[in-house]
Amino acid sequence: MSVVEQIEVGIIGTGWCGGIRAEALHRNPIVGKLHIAEIRTDRLQEMVDWYSPATATEDYNDLLANSDISAIFISATPEHLHFPMAKESLEAGKHVFLEKPIAISLAEADELLAISEKNNLKFSIGYSQRFNPKYAYVRESLLNGSLGEPVTALHSRHISRGLGEKISGRTKLSPAAMEATHDLDFVLWCLEPAKPVKVYAQNSYKYWKDKGSPQIPDCTWIIVTMDSGICFTIGAGWVLPKSYPNYSSTSMEMIGTNGALVIDDTHRDVILHTENDGIQFPMSTMPGEYVGHVYAGPMAPETDYFVEACVFDKPVMVTGEQARKVMEVYIAADMSVERDQPVSLPLNSNDISSIRV
Ligand SMILES: NC(=O)c1ccc[n+]([C@@H]2O[C@H](COP(=O)([O-])OP(=O)(O)OC[C@H]3O[C@@H](n4cnc5c(N)ncnc54)[C@H](O)[C@@H]3O)[C@@H](O)[C@H]2O)c1
Repeated sequence: MSVVEQIEVGIIGTGWCGGIRAEALHRNPIVGKLHIAEIRTDRLQEMVDWYSPATATEDYNDLLANSDISAIFISATPEHLHFPMAKESLEAGKHVFLEKPIAISLAEADELLAISEKNNLKFSIGYSQRFNPKYAYVRESLLNGSLGEPVTALHSRHISRGLGEKISGRTKLSPAAMEATHDLDFVLWCLEPAKPVKVYAQNSYKYWKDKGSPQIPDCTWIIVTMDSGICFTIGAGWVLPKSYPNYSSTSMEMIGTNGALVIDDTHRDVILHTENDGIQFPMSTMPGEYVGHVYAGPMAPETDYFVEACVFDKPVMVTGEQARKVMEVYIAADMSVERDQPVSLPLNSNDISSIRV
């Protein structure tokens, strides 16, 4: 029997997503030792109790200083921490898996790309839906020709107001940057090598406005035009009533010259009805969750994929360049809302200097 090389892996931030990463890495036989950095002492203790990491610290610099650690997952919030944590990790010679968003500004994203390339390190961003089997089927149906050439796509993604409150409470980033970003990544990936050339977007303001937060949009609708002559539409919002903790509902269409795919990812296929909680839609979160011995969702396989990319020197699933392109599109969407007119891509230096971060 051949012996597979193991690596030591660190996680910075073990809240919701970092907790899933921790469990996946704990279960992964390629991970020889797990190291965890978390500033909330009670959560850190939980991680110690559950996963017995080799080291557990409140200071992520301890992970960066440990030369035995070759890869770092960055799952900390608020999102402005992503850039400094990723930069320091790459400069310390670690492969980096970074939750979306890649950064707050395009300049920061460019810097991360340059350091990862210079230091010959794996660098990937958490666009987990690429590991959702339904999404994979859409792309496969384009690649194998059954849909013909792509004509248009439509994604409508909505998450619960509880999650909307959590996200909008910690960052000024919009539903375009925080939610539609997954769908932008996926559709742009499906349509490669076509490039986005124009973006038009509008927001709805009602629910959060009535709650006293008039600056927070309820949802964004985005139309993206590609240089191949086709356009697609993405809608994303965060005001659905609670139907399950962190509920997410998506419906999708991919229309081609030879066929069409309609995908229901609204999770109405599994309904739990109890006296205590009424109707619930289990397994309906975007990252997914462990259900006994299986994982229902995309985040655990995504975690394993990155570890394998590091150990076997395979390409990562989401490149930094792709994540930067997605960022440019959602920034253009926010600019389009602000200007109330379409925005052309690529963004020019005037556009970039006008962005308020
Ligand atoms: N791929 C997906 O489906 C998906 C879903 C949700 C969130 N996300 C992304 O994942 C990221 C994490 O989201 P979340 O909901 O898990 O956030 P969270 O707030 O639940 O967890 C973040 C954790 O980081 C910790 N932290 C903050 N500063 C730290 C520091 N200096 N050192 C160590 N730990 C620190 C916090 O204490 C917290 O436990 C977000 O940026 C979000 O955009 C991705």
